[in-house]
Amino acid sequence: MNPPELAAALPYSGCDNPREFLKRLEVRSDPISLALVEIHGRVARKVQEWKPFVCPDIRAAREFTREIVAKAKADFLAERAGGSEALDLCAGPGGDTLALAEHYDVKAVDREVPRIEALKINARLHAGHAVEVIELDVMEAELDADVVHADPGRSGAKDPKRTEPPATELRDMFSEVPHMIEVPPAVKPRPGTVVFSATGEVRSVCWTNLTEKVAAVIAETSAVLEGLPRKPTEALEPEEVRYVIEQDPAVRKANLSWKLAEELNVHPTVVAGEETVLASEDPPDLTVDHVIRVVEVGEEGDGPPTIRSLGVKLNPRRLAELRKTYKEYDIVYVTKAGVLAGKVIYERE
Ligand SMILES: C[S@@+](CC[C@H](N)C(=O)[O-])C[C@H]1O[C@@H](n2cnc3c(N)ncnc32)[C@H](O)[C@@H]1O
Repeated sequence: MNPPELAAALPYSGCDNPREFLKRLEVRSDPISLALVEIHGRVARKVQEWKPFVCPDIRAAREFTREIVAKAKADFLAERAGGSEALDLCAGPGGDTLALAEHYDVKAVDREVPRIEALKINARLHAGHAVEVIELDVMEAELDADVVHADPGRSGAKDPKRTEPPATELRDMFSEVPHMIEVPPAVKPRPGTVVFSATGEVRSVCWTNLTEKVAAVIAETSAVLEGLPRKPTEALEPEEVRYVIEQDPAVRKANLSWKLAEELNVHPTVVAGEETVLASEDPPDLTVDHVIRVVEVGEEGDGPPTIRSLGVKLNPRRLAELRKTYKEYDIVYVTKAGVLAGKVIYERE
């Protein structure tokens, strides 16, 4: 197989590590094969209908917005702002642009040529005439539209003033227009913040002038959690606990666990003053399709259970092996897509 063919095969191999994948096939790990296999693998895990999705490099493959989250963001904008023309600033290879194009004619702006080229192909493949691609520094853009979406580069920035370009400046530029601007996940939610969240580590935290109330949208179900975040105070008796629900990190980070608990009809409790645990006595409907990690659950003294994630990513075959190897650990299941995202559950012996 040549490098592009290897790259195309990776997502179907059940193997997450490109180096391991090449070794298994007894193919030499030259840098080009490795890079292509890694880019393609990353892309394939993030898109469903938008295949093929062209991506110029690994950084772009990491940065583009996952299809399910991009669609939730675009639906949110369209429902609340309406209009027919959207501006997508810092459009990259086009994750958000393609989702916006399902509701709007989109002007998509970015300044990096390889991304612009990828975006043009993706738009042609999946959005027809709805997208106009513009190569420009967004700070110099004198463009208008009915709504504005912006996803500035965050590359590790925790402060919205340090994103590229600064999210604060974008907000000032477009304060009069219905807008949604992505900010680093470290930014604390407050009125006008929306957290979009799917399973696992996906998260997208946005400032918007379209809401005073909505605090989180779970992308997989479009469940909307309204109200401002606060911490739960209710204590939990350890003997009541049979199932623990591991939350999507975005929900936990946004201090929205209490709201998720309400949705799931389970008990929220706080471990060590920080970690919020959701637990329930009733058996949930489990499937093993999307197993993502193994946790060790401990009970110390009279307090609530402690959970230590071993952070293992799994497929069902690996799960079977782990069941044999780690009998003493609890296995965590993610319920099938369609149930609340991030609902990861284990059953005690
Ligand atoms: C997080 S990525 C956007 C990903 C995109 N939303 C997607 O889903 O494909 C940030 C993008 O901002 C672009 N960018 C950063 N500063 C810019 C500027 N001043 N003008 C235009 N684009 C800029 C980068 O080239 C990069 O493609």
